[in-house]
Amino acid sequence: MKILITGGAGFIGATVGSCALDAGHVPVILDNLVNGRREFTAGRAFYEGDVRDGALVDRVFAEHPDIAAVIHCAALAVVPDSVADPIGYYDNNVVGGLELARHLIRNGCTRLVFSSSASIYQTADDFTVTEDSPLDPQSPYAQTKAMMERVFADVSAATPLRVLSLRYFNPIGADPEMRTGLQNRRPTHALGKVIQAWKAREPFTITGTDWPTADGSGIRDYIHVWDLAAAHLAAVTRFDQVLADRTCLPINLGTGRGTTVRELVAEFNRVADRPVEAIEAGPRPGDVAGVYTRSDRAAQLLGWKAERTIADGIRDSLTWAQRRDHVLTDDA
Ligand SMILES: NC(=O)c1ccc[n+]([C@@H]2O[C@H](COP(=O)([O-])OP(=O)(O)OC[C@H]3O[C@@H](n4cnc5c(N)ncnc54)[C@H](O)[C@@H]3O)[C@@H](O)[C@H]2O)c1
Repeated sequence: MKILITGGAGFIGATVGSCALDAGHVPVILDNLVNGRREFTAGRAFYEGDVRDGALVDRVFAEHPDIAAVIHCAALAVVPDSVADPIGYYDNNVVGGLELARHLIRNGCTRLVFSSSASIYQTADDFTVTEDSPLDPQSPYAQTKAMMERVFADVSAATPLRVLSLRYFNPIGADPEMRTGLQNRRPTHALGKVIQAWKAREPFTITGTDWPTADGSGIRDYIHVWDLAAAHLAAVTRFDQVLADRTCLPINLGTGRGTTVRELVAEFNRVADRPVEAIEAGPRPGDVAGVYTRSDRAAQLLGWKAERTIADGIRDSLTWAQRRDHVLTDDA
């Protein structure tokens, strides 16, 4: 199957591309490289440009009329940046998503898999959520995801476009073959910060220790990016079956296990060859206590379950952190 992946030069999109290639599919990449890396597009059909560029999207479909599905990963995705630059985030993620929807419909595309996020959920008393749990996006970034789900619900009701929104929990790890991983040396999520502290032999700062979780630190559902990639393939291959009698549907992609930041640090110290020390500070703008999934919708509809452990994710993230500068040589 030929699959157009917007944002396919980024962390998740590129890993989905590798997973698709390994399974015998053909990824076509559309990415403006604002945060993506050209190296991640090697050996893949690649169009450099913006999802809002209708002429470019038309060219992609003219040159690949056999594209069977689109996975829309392209977005700006850093919560604190979205707090500082809401206009940029709404413009790129919401206007960009709207424009892309228009271009896809014009080109006869009917299958869209959307990269949504668990950050749209309201924190629940027991920190677990299903797809039917109340939403309460706390940052402009999370708002852009909730808004696009709403937009896609309305658009899919009125047009032939069908949409599966995959609500990712907290991706960690890298392609187990180390073709792709986090391109950013200074990621803002917890494991990325633990690894930066470990590399620099400095203490790691737990941001937020007064959340109403068992140990006061934020809780997340860490999912290996290779498991996440596999779920995308299940989503495109089962798309028509899953959306047989509806026009759109959200599906949670998590492990079903909540891990606090303190537990993450403890797990890291079991995996790494030397421990990292943890110190404490207040939460960052836009931070939330966090949630994990208790839904079995992905298992039922996609036949998918996360297989890798948090230790696998930490190990692969660490390996990637050491390999990154060999894979990504051009740092312009
Ligand atoms: N990484 C996470 O923790 C996480 C969690 C939940 C959801 N998501 C979503 O998954 C998707 C991929 O995230 P990621 O972690 O790989 O981020 P990323 O920044 O590595 O990838 C996003 C890619 O989209 C490209 N892009 C951005 N705006 C574009 C535009 N207007 N036109 C064309 N290309 C554009 C960037 O260059 C980049 O390559 C995003 O939609 C993100 O919101 C990520």
